[in-house]
Amino acid sequence: MMDFLLLFCIVFVKFVAAEDGHRAWLRYAPVPDASRYRYLPSSIIALNSTKSSPVYTAGQELQQGIKGILGKQLLVNTNGTRKTDTLAIIVGTADTYTKIYGDFDEAGDLEEDGFYLSTEGRNVLIIGSNERGALYGAFEYLSRLGQANFEEDSYVDNPHAPIRWVNQWDNLDGSIERGYAGPSIFFRNGFVADNVTRVAEYARLLASIRINGVIVNNVNANSSLLSTRNIEGLGRLADAMRPYGIQLGISLLFSSPRDLGGLPTFDPLEPTVDAWWANITEKLYAHVPDMVGYLVKANSEGQPGPLTYNRTLADGANMFARALESHGGVVMFRAFVYDNHINPANWTADRANAAVDFFKDLDGKFDENVVVQIKYGPIDFQVREPASPLFSTLRNTSTAIELQVTQEYLGHQDHLVYLAPLWKEILDFDMKADNRPSKVKDIISGGRFRRPLGGSAGVVNVGTNTTWLGSHLAMSNLYAYGKLTWDPSLSSEGILQDWIRLTFGFDKTVLDTITSMSLASWPAYENYTGNLGVQTLTDILYTHFGPNPASQDNNGWGQWTRADHTSIGMDRTVKNGTRNAGQYSPAIAQQFENIETTPDNLLLWFHHVSYTHILKSGKTVIQHFYDAHYAGASAAQSLLTQWSSLRGKIDTERFEDVLFKQTYQAGHALVWRDSITQFYCNLSGIPDEAGRVGNHTHRIEAEDMTLSGYKTYAVSPFHAASGPTHSAIVTSTNTTTGTATANVTFVSGLYDIAVNYYDLIGGRASYELSINNRTIGTWKGDLEDKLGHAPSRFLDGHSATRVTFRNVTVAKGSTVRIMGRPDGVEAAPVDYVSFLPVGVWD
Ligand code: GCU
Repeated sequence: MMDFLLLFCIVFVKFVAAEDGHRAWLRYAPVPDASRYRYLPSSIIALNSTKSSPVYTAGQELQQGIKGILGKQLLVNTNGTRKTDTLAIIVGTADTYTKIYGDFDEAGDLEEDGFYLSTEGRNVLIIGSNERGALYGAFEYLSRLGQANFEEDSYVDNPHAPIRWVNQWDNLDGSIERGYAGPSIFFRNGFVADNVTRVAEYARLLASIRINGVIVNNVNANSSLLSTRNIEGLGRLADAMRPYGIQLGISLLFSSPRDLGGLPTFDPLEPTVDAWWANITEKLYAHVPDMVGYLVKANSEGQPGPLTYNRTLADGANMFARALESHGGVVMFRAFVYDNHINPANWTADRANAAVDFFKDLDGKFDENVVVQIKYGPIDFQVREPASPLFSTLRNTSTAIELQVTQEYLGHQDHLVYLAPLWKEILDFDMKADNRPSKVKDIISGGRFRRPLGGSAGVVNVGTNTTWLGSHLAMSNLYAYGKLTWDPSLSSEGILQDWIRLTFGFDKTVLDTITSMSLASWPAYENYTGNLGVQTLTDILYTHFGPNPASQDNNGWGQWTRADHTSIGMDRTVKNGTRNAGQYSPAIAQQFENIETTPDNLLLWFHHVSYTHILKSGKTVIQHFYDAHYAGASAAQSLLTQWSSLRGKIDTERFEDVLFKQTYQAGHALVWRDSITQFYCNLSGIPDEAGRVGNHTHRIEAEDMTLSGYKTYAVSPFHAASGPTHSAIVTSTNTTTGTATANVTFVSGLYDIAVNYYDLIGGRASYELSINNRTIGTWKGDLEDKLGHAPSRFLDGHSATRVTFRNVTVAKGSTVRIMGRPDGVEAAPVDYVSFLPVGVWD
């Protein structure tokens, strides 16, 4: 019996303490001063007893939440009898509430999906305009309690826009395009997954941030999603999400009538094609009666579409709109239509022009249930872009903004980048259409141009990782995305702090530290990746992760920087360039046309200038590049220092997990800094005024060490390796253990010793660092098991990685040795070892 009790206790303690991120911001942790709550509720009345109803879910959620937060087990009554008991929480729709309890004053203020919450008096009232609204109200109330907000007040909260969706880029084989958190929760081996537990949990998470639709499969769609077995499967997914008020939608492959249906054509004006889609749509609604609609990527990046038959994009979109109309479904038609084979030799060619060029003549030609889904900027989720000019071009068409929660160009969730400030800059940007206030957020809500539909789509890409996004801290982005879709006037900091309290608790230092880290993170990332509007200078032809500025130019993808030996930037002016500035309304066009009125942070987006052009700050462009990259990398070190200061204030599991990531980011930010500054120093021939670039006095280059079993290797791109010859070392065969030794010539003292090596996919090499035969540390090239970013097969800016051993006493004249044992294709590659006096980063 004793043994059993002991085992029970251990298991229980472990369970209670498990902070693997799975519960995200819905932890319902006990609040410190629950006794301040004057009217502790004594029962829950949920005015619907049907288990698939969001009101029923709200009752269950309130029960679970109050037990966790206030430590009180309440009964849920679904009978909805007249209000006799006081101290009850009553949750239901306005209609049901009114039938049982009579009118309430705020009923007329409720809009679709909105709710009324009152914590005044002796009952808590949570009344939704519909079932979903009631559930949102319940989550709102629990979020307040979870943050120890016991205020007595009452208010109505309505959504800013009706469409608040997420897009998952999940493939049927279970992989996820641009997903960094493991395989799909929706699909496996070509079919809808059998186990939908995580799907329901995801729906719960999304409902708590007021998302109402999920597109479950990749925009690069596959027609076999529409097989009978998969349509049945979609029915199961929808069933799992329905109790949370989340409606399912799917992405379609335009050529499905041919590929799956066996028709000779997929021409949208061909009646047999129309009939095929109508029929498939009927079948889908038979299994998913509340299907929210379709998402379509057509004539983009090799995808088929109506242009294949010389039909317009509106012809294509309207074909789906017709099929959906009687079911109340919506077509989200993506504006991401462009030619990825444009000619870089043509100075006036510009991918950024594509959306307006393709859509401007179609304004007003889309059916009422079509919404054009527009990426926030004209190119592709870069670290900084101006708002897409299409937002103010379409006046008679409903639009939605597409944002990315998954950090495709922003560090793959292995770099901390809190995105709410970036999104808010776009949402708050005034397009000045017709010289009237026209903020992007008011255009996509439907408000500005009086459109019936509109809203947001966020590419999220959660996977099976317990943290959902592969990173505890990246979850602030999902939380913020939901909050901003509902209310874009919320502040980035306010949203963040709610999330911190719900995720990490009430410690003031924790709150302040994570706030400061998160708010510094986007500027830091912009600084060490690509500043002045030049775009994220990543490898656009490979993983979109590490640095490779040369990959931007001289290809048909059109993410050009136009960098040469003397100058850099896209000339998007009307007078001399691609005329892109002219796609904006006159007031904005004038601002961007003129170099004087273009803000520095978008200078290279709109203008081609010499490296010695003087910015508003007084610095030259090139010196700004150098300084920004050094400042950004240094800010990334500070993120690590700040997080480290939270040891003991956060549970060990999450603390260590985030510490590992911040350590990685700090190292990779240096890789970025060195790569980009080397590249432009080399290209421009203009040295860094501060003498930092290419000058690393604390480093011993691996290729300069005495090698045995190792050989030198010329790294490509060159800037992904340190030292004048830009070389690294690899073992001479992939079975030979190599050693590299050197005499330490630095003064005796205490050092942090950093080793930069390359962690490739395809092997897990092992390494040992020693000083005078004393082992300082060992590690493995096994980041593919530990981090979610897209891996690389090469020695490059993606695989370049740093490991640091701190506080090592080193005597001048000692021998430093790195031993590398290769594994598979990973030939234990090393770039350099750095002896850093404590507090120095290089
Ligand atoms: C980017 C991304 C692709 C994606 C595409 C899209 O180009 O790299 O993976 O398919 O955008 O949004 O359609």
